[in-house]
Amino acid sequence: MGLFITFEGGDGSGKTTQARALYGRLRRKNYSVILTQEPGGTHLGRMLRRWLTDPQSGVAVLPAEPSQLHLVEPPIGDQLLPDMVLHSTAPRAELLLFLIARAQLVDEVIRPNLLQEKTVICDRYAPSTVAYQGYGRQLNLDLINEANEIATQGIKPDLIVLLDIAPEEGLSRKWAAAGRMYFDDEELAFHRRVRDGYLRLAQAEPGRWLVVDGSQPKKKIEQMIWDKVAPLLESRELRREK
Ligand code: TMP
Repeated sequence: MGLFITFEGGDGSGKTTQARALYGRLRRKNYSVILTQEPGGTHLGRMLRRWLTDPQSGVAVLPAEPSQLHLVEPPIGDQLLPDMVLHSTAPRAELLLFLIARAQLVDEVIRPNLLQEKTVICDRYAPSTVAYQGYGRQLNLDLINEANEIATQGIKPDLIVLLDIAPEEGLSRKWAAAGRMYFDDEELAFHRRVRDGYLRLAQAEPGRWLVVDGSQPKKKIEQMIWDKVAPLLESRELRREK
């Protein structure tokens, strides 16, 4: 199997920047490396991501005909349909959507590439669901762990990099850079629970997790991650580009 590295963190923690930086470094060193993300690494995942980030696009993943939606009576006017459907996602439905996207990504991208001895970097993976839907939404953790086991086929990362940051700092960074997003209307307590959930996961498996203070300068974080990844690369016979 190849090397599997995932990045985790609260919104605005800088994990995407760091996942990309690591990918670029490995490419320059001629490793066969794949960078993917959750949700988003497959067609199904991209539909979910688009739906999360752009509420209006959500209609595209639903049947075009309102009558096919099996809405309860009284019928709701077309103009209300997108908001009605998009902003009332039940927490369990949200959980299942992320799991569906993960199951597809593991089957289509992660597993086959690891089987080819490639290095796979994934921006978010199973711990995101434990942190956001488990700790954030407070859904049953045992249920989430079981569902994650099904979605991931038991494939665990060799290294999970957690960019840990205070939610206040992460959210203000994200709003400055990307505008508002899916969990923005959640109270700060939600984001604090997410952070706490991540830290608990990392404490429970210290050998697998690297916790980095996400408020440090980008270049410094990049180096800390590299210091951890370099020995892992050396310990494996990984595939390289010709
Ligand atoms: P991001 O990858 O740009 O951070 O955005 C994805 C959003 O989706 C982020 O707010 C976290 C959320 N998310 C979950 O709530 N559960 C999950 O399982 C995953 C993969 C993401």
